[in-house]
Amino acid sequence: MSELLEKGAARTRWIRSRMPLLAAARREFAERQPFAGRRIGMSLHLEPKTAVLLEVLAAGGAEVVATGNHGSTQDDIVALLRSTGMTVFGARDDTIEQHMSNVASVIEAKPDILLDNGADLAAGVVASGHAESVVGGTEETTSGGIRLRDELAGQVPFPVIVINDSMLKAIGENRHGVGQSVVESVMRITNLMIPGRRFVVAGYGWCGRGIAQYLRAFGGKVAVAEVDELKAFEAALDGYRVGDLAQLAEWGEFFITATGAPNVIGPDVIARLQGGAILANAGHFPWEIDTAHLRAAASAVSQLDAAIERFDLPDGREITLLAEGRMVNLAGREPKGNSLEAMDLGFLLQALSLERVATAAAGLVPGAQPVPRDLERLIARRFLDALGADR
Ligand code: NAI
Repeated sequence: MSELLEKGAARTRWIRSRMPLLAAARREFAERQPFAGRRIGMSLHLEPKTAVLLEVLAAGGAEVVATGNHGSTQDDIVALLRSTGMTVFGARDDTIEQHMSNVASVIEAKPDILLDNGADLAAGVVASGHAESVVGGTEETTSGGIRLRDELAGQVPFPVIVINDSMLKAIGENRHGVGQSVVESVMRITNLMIPGRRFVVAGYGWCGRGIAQYLRAFGGKVAVAEVDELKAFEAALDGYRVGDLAQLAEWGEFFITATGAPNVIGPDVIARLQGGAILANAGHFPWEIDTAHLRAAASAVSQLDAAIERFDLPDGREITLLAEGRMVNLAGREPKGNSLEAMDLGFLLQALSLERVATAAAGLVPGAQPVPRDLERLIARRFLDALGADR
């Protein structure tokens, strides 16, 4: 066994053992063979939890052709998946051009089911004229769902179940998975104390609610900045201080953005931060903190640790930025991402939605659509059982 393969196998063992919902799906799929004779094309982060999902699909009879996301592919996991006979393209150090060519290779393999991320595969099969042979697919992200309903509207002749539109995923993954992992990452990267420290969370959507909740659970003092009045109202009744970001800038010591919107922490907010303020982002795009402005305004920039940079401003203030403003829960040494249980839930949604498109596509409409309600209820019941919630 190669060193890389051994590492991938060892890192996946614990994770597989703590994903009971996927373990049950694996047993059921081995019996039902919902993907017999089907080729599933995948574009999703190639990390240990995804490997467990792919094993489940393969147990259901699928031939798997896969690639990862740019910059996040874990080479030991690629080695592990290849050792099981899957076709996997990509490596950690791929350039963006290599990544695009990996996505093209998945499309050229003419998959009949798509497990997509950001609608790259759906757009690719439409552009290359392979769409007719696809029976259906799933889409993991909000941004992919928007693309399917907008740019690709009317062009996708097969059903695509948008996993991110599910309430189960919003609660299990965005609120509790991201909430826990963002706070864990901030602690791991900075090694600072949370209790008694003043935090400002920008955005009180699914992720922001979780981040605020877990910071408070550790004893942090938390304020919320939210542009939607109803969510600001909810934050206030949940017991948080609520205000404008510009106003909270002077109060906060630690700022975490989770909005999906650009330049939430822009020049006006940066101008009002106290010296020593720490900035981090949890949103998908690295644009929520205006890092270009911070860089241009700084008289000196120094790297203090793997994911910690200090910006010295000419007026004497020093501002700290974590993970270059990229998703903080995927950064730093040994990033873990969302909890195993949150991904067990999210990937069971994936697995059963893929089974639905493989076996009952005729009962679904073409294009983007939510996860069927019966699947959500089934998965919620299974999650409660696995948790032992009644005990
Ligand atoms: P959401 O739509 O539920 O919440 C976003 C909230 O931000 C909304 O309530 C909106 O009103 C608010 N907002 C927008 N602009 C704002 C501004 N300028 N100031 C203050 N609030 C503002 O979305 P969700 O699910 O919470 O996702 C947020 C971001 O996190 C997205 O970019 C999403 O892709 C990303 N995400 C990150 C994950 C991770 O692992 N780090 C995992 C899942 C989602």
